[in-house]
Amino acid sequence: MAKDPVRVLVTGAAGQIGYALVPMIARGVMLGADQPVILHMLDIPPAAEALNGVKMELVDAAFPLLKGVVATTDVVEACTSVNIAVMVGGFPRKEGMERKDVMSKNVSIYKSQASALEKHAAANCKVLVVANPANTNALILKEFAPSIPEKNISCLTRLDHNRALGQISERLNVQVSDVKNVIIWGNHSSTQYPDVNHATVKIPAGEKAVRELVADDAWLNGEFITTVQQRGAAIIKARKLSSALSAASAACDHIRDWVLGTPEGTWVSMGVYSDGSYNVPAGLIYSFPVTCQNGEWKIVQGLSIDEFSRKKLDLTAEELSEEKALAYSCLS
Ligand code: NAD
Ligand code: LMR
Repeated sequence: MAKDPVRVLVTGAAGQIGYALVPMIARGVMLGADQPVILHMLDIPPAAEALNGVKMELVDAAFPLLKGVVATTDVVEACTSVNIAVMVGGFPRKEGMERKDVMSKNVSIYKSQASALEKHAAANCKVLVVANPANTNALILKEFAPSIPEKNISCLTRLDHNRALGQISERLNVQVSDVKNVIIWGNHSSTQYPDVNHATVKIPAGEKAVRELVADDAWLNGEFITTVQQRGAAIIKARKLSSALSAASAACDHIRDWVLGTPEGTWVSMGVYSDGSYNVPAGLIYSFPVTCQNGEWKIVQGLSIDEFSRKKLDLTAEELSEEKALAYSCLS
């Protein structure tokens, strides 16, 4: 029997990530090839005409799984009955803008959209925040939507996770699908800590540690980390625009694994509400290694953290605490 359609909200849908993401969702990349979807696309009035153009293209693409499209600038209409909300909408930093200016614009958007989601989304709606500052926008959304369970609110660090897999695969000249269990700890920013201490590569006899195969701790503790941390900036320099196809693909990976589950023996990185695991302060949205089953994520416990890693976990937590304080000062 055909499944009922799932309603997926994409905010900022007329933007560049939105343009890459909506066809992926309509093709079943996010929720599976047998899952019909109804897309809800939200943008702001100046982008209404472009948004309508995206809707026209979705109709023209004749996606068999796409059972409806709501394209609107009305946040209530956009949020009504959605099962999944991918929050991409926001203001990118422009020349001459201070970090605080960007924070101030974006956190107030997330405060107001939190209320709309809380009132109008379907019960148990899963929320993924992509727009930067992703962790702090997600935290504001969580705090201003107290009736949405904290386990349902997350932010995107899967792009960083995928970037780390990509770097290891290139360095070792192995298939990216044979590399697993890297970890992104902390903030989706240049203080994030890409950790390979538990990562492995599939070999004919089983699995081998990435550290053993790379056999170059200086690279793994240096250039590898900074390359992943700075990859977003490198893409902006090369494209004159921030990453879009890789961000959209990572958003699909994030939701797919959350809803359909992670493969046995594999974890992924998700920005989730800290419960104090690994001595990360509770009350931050922090990227952890997680496994997912039956639509719920669980932080992987018991991994050893050496002194080098500890410092890096703490540094990115400190930045998130500062961002949280700055966000609240912008809202007051
Ligand atoms: P973009 O400027 O092309 O698109 C953003 C869209 O959001 C625009 O269409 C804009 O009109 C819309 N918008 C602005 N305010 C809105 C509101 N209140 N409600 C709904 N829509 C609104 O930007 P983009 O390249 O698509 O990037 C979107 C965001 O994602 C940026 O914040 C970017 O920094 C972030 N990003 C995050 C990651 C990640 O891994 N977490 C990766 C890449 C980009
Ligand atoms: C990315 O990681 O590609 C983006 O978050 C970069 C940015 O600042 O938009």
